[in-house]
Amino acid sequence: MPPIEVSAPAKVNLTLHVTGQRADGYHLLDSLVAFADFGDQIRLIKGPDLRITVSGPFAEGVPTDHRNLVWRAAEIAGWTGQIHIEKNLPHGAGIGGGSSDAGAVLRALGHTAPALGLGADVPVCQHAGAARMAGIGEQITPVATMPPLQAILVNPGVHVPTPKVFSVLRQKDNDSMEALPAMGASPATWTEWLRRQRNDLEAPAMTTAPVIRDVLAALSRLKGVSLARMSGSGATCFALVPEDGAHIALARTLSATFPQWWVQAGTLT
Ligand code: C5P
Repeated sequence: MPPIEVSAPAKVNLTLHVTGQRADGYHLLDSLVAFADFGDQIRLIKGPDLRITVSGPFAEGVPTDHRNLVWRAAEIAGWTGQIHIEKNLPHGAGIGGGSSDAGAVLRALGHTAPALGLGADVPVCQHAGAARMAGIGEQITPVATMPPLQAILVNPGVHVPTPKVFSVLRQKDNDSMEALPAMGASPATWTEWLRRQRNDLEAPAMTTAPVIRDVLAALSRLKGVSLARMSGSGATCFALVPEDGAHIALARTLSATFPQWWVQAGTLT
């Protein structure tokens, strides 16, 4: 059987409203999620035993046993063989990491039932397209009306543990998102709409990792950026750049100024 190749794109929470907390401690979310045209690359080769190999710029520290979500994704799908992950994305970074890898493996193996048990971000990563995510992550509504958005993603190299960020969030019952822009709304209308929404984890993440404030300030200072915001529980932040193709040069400029940061330009859909 030929290998199966599948992409595990970077996940970006364009908005992330925390609207409540359940008795078991999990938080209720209302989030517009989109996916980049870059990410980890996964290759599946059928065989008698499950085995994980990892390469790429962020391979270091990635577990190759059951602690890796792709291991558990393969088990759920009843599949064995070699899973090779080319780790191009920083992990523990608010852009999907292991959840996107697991979502990609489930997609490749034709497993469509939402695997919430692998993590709150896994169902949306199984979909891997623009979607509104609610509940604790299990309610996924595809959003086909969002125009492609040019963006820059920046990670300053600090790891922010998600439970820690949630634990310093004081106000848990915040407003849901406004109704999404109507069908056929222009990219400018979408940007205006996005600017009125929030990531409620941004402030708590900044208390844990103050460098996030520097990243957002650097992105906001770039000419042509219409919105700068953190994704997920951080520390990766994104900036939207409306002018056709302008995000590429802006990413290059930013990378030259902050060579220690991971900077990537792309399109979110
Ligand atoms: O589900 P996942 O493993 O991604 O979540 C990591 C941690 O983030 C959870 O243990 C929980 O502390 C927090 N979390 C939460 N509410 C969510 C998602 C995650 O409180 N909806």
